[in-house]
Amino acid sequence: IPVEVFDLVIFGGTGDLARRKILPGLYRRFLAGQLPEGMRIIGAARTDFDDAGYRSFVNDAICEFVKPSKHDKERIKEFVENIHYLAVDAMGESGWTELAALMRPGVIRAFYFSVAPRLFGPLAERLHEYEIADADSRIVVEKPFGRDLETAKALNGVLAESFDEHQIYRIDHYLGKETVQNLMAVRFGNVLFEPLWNSQYVDHIQITVAESVGVGGRGSYYDKSGAIRDMVQNHLMQLLCLIAMEPPSDFEPDAVRDEKLKVIRALDPVDQADIVRGQYRGDDDVASYLEDAENEDSTTESFIAMKLGISNWRWKGTPIYLRTGKRLRDRTSEIAVVFKDPPHSIFGPQEGRRGNVLVIRLQPNEGMNLRVTIKEPGPGGMRLIEVPLDMSFAEALADGDDIPDAYERLIMDVMRGNQTLFMRGDEVEAAWAWTDPIIEAWEKARTKPVPYDAGSSGPDDSLMLLHRDGRRWREIKA
Ligand code: BG6
Repeated sequence: IPVEVFDLVIFGGTGDLARRKILPGLYRRFLAGQLPEGMRIIGAARTDFDDAGYRSFVNDAICEFVKPSKHDKERIKEFVENIHYLAVDAMGESGWTELAALMRPGVIRAFYFSVAPRLFGPLAERLHEYEIADADSRIVVEKPFGRDLETAKALNGVLAESFDEHQIYRIDHYLGKETVQNLMAVRFGNVLFEPLWNSQYVDHIQITVAESVGVGGRGSYYDKSGAIRDMVQNHLMQLLCLIAMEPPSDFEPDAVRDEKLKVIRALDPVDQADIVRGQYRGDDDVASYLEDAENEDSTTESFIAMKLGISNWRWKGTPIYLRTGKRLRDRTSEIAVVFKDPPHSIFGPQEGRRGNVLVIRLQPNEGMNLRVTIKEPGPGGMRLIEVPLDMSFAEALADGDDIPDAYERLIMDVMRGNQTLFMRGDEVEAAWAWTDPIIEAWEKARTKPVPYDAGSSGPDDSLMLLHRDGRRWREIKA
């Protein structure tokens, strides 16, 4: 779907997210011919840049974060000609009249709040007050969207004073990942999986988002959040929703988001015995969590594993195991749907058989893999083995190594006015309503995370979480 001419104002235009993701992503869409003639990108921040200074900042960001094969000097030059800069004080009054004067009638206006959440309110108010935003304008906000139900509600309230829900695009960048969207295509574009997608056939589901990096450099933010606020409340919850939701009646934003919301509301409260929290140790090469967080008394978790239940007809009785953590042995994210064994084995007992598993790999090597049972080739009788039916998206798609980054896709959706891959206010609140009691229980009981080795698969207790149910985690392997 083509995008109409737009003005995109990036508040926090000189920040890390703009430099690493937003600006390089826009350049890649420009190279792909998807940005319309006449569009403008306006960086706004407190720094005193002029257009030329900001263009050179953007040029450097492209050179650093876009792969070298795409560094075409002429094209970069053409791209940055669309870029402007304005010094604007989010909390004060300077720059706002100038920004208002820059706006063009009849052009889509989008405002990306790539700033600390405490600035969301002041920015929204000023856009309204200075009549910079019109009824069709969009605002884009980043996580963290609150730190509990109360703060999320307050944030929603502040934004609602100046914008309608259909103008608010709450980003969860996991929803922009190619494979995450493919999850919906696989589930609802095929007849093969959906009939089996329930507790009658699915033994359990594992969702793993493992990272090998630590929290060094952003320790002060992370230490106040921990894995539950940083990853579970948002990214893992979104993956869970897409895996577990009922088929929406169409792919319209509210149809999809209604179904996701129902999943969150059907989640059982989690028993503390079904949660494992961990914190990484250091070694000769890497700093420990406590060093990275610069807080030797920290009880924040850098790893969490939990067992969840969903109380609805489809899923009652099928546990969902989640785990995510920093400084694990590999960077790998995947969802594994583990099917039950056939009701009766006509081939007699088959030692070590592991049954059907559908693995949806988010990163790296985006793709899908379905493990099926076949006969071992040769004359040795009816011995069964498992083989993977493997589909790598990079190989399956003509220009596979060009899979757009999550942010690119999401920004294009903002311009198209499509909210399907963005979180609605009630969804975010429901996710906090589910997370809050978990965190409160830790705080009340003053529980401490258990240590685990950097480069490992997390604490042993997390292995036990599945062992005691007669199951085991898939290996964390890129
Ligand atoms: C962010 C978290 O939202 O997601 C980070 O704040 C985390 O802690 C990151 O590293 C992971 O994103 P990705 O796309 O690298 O899996």
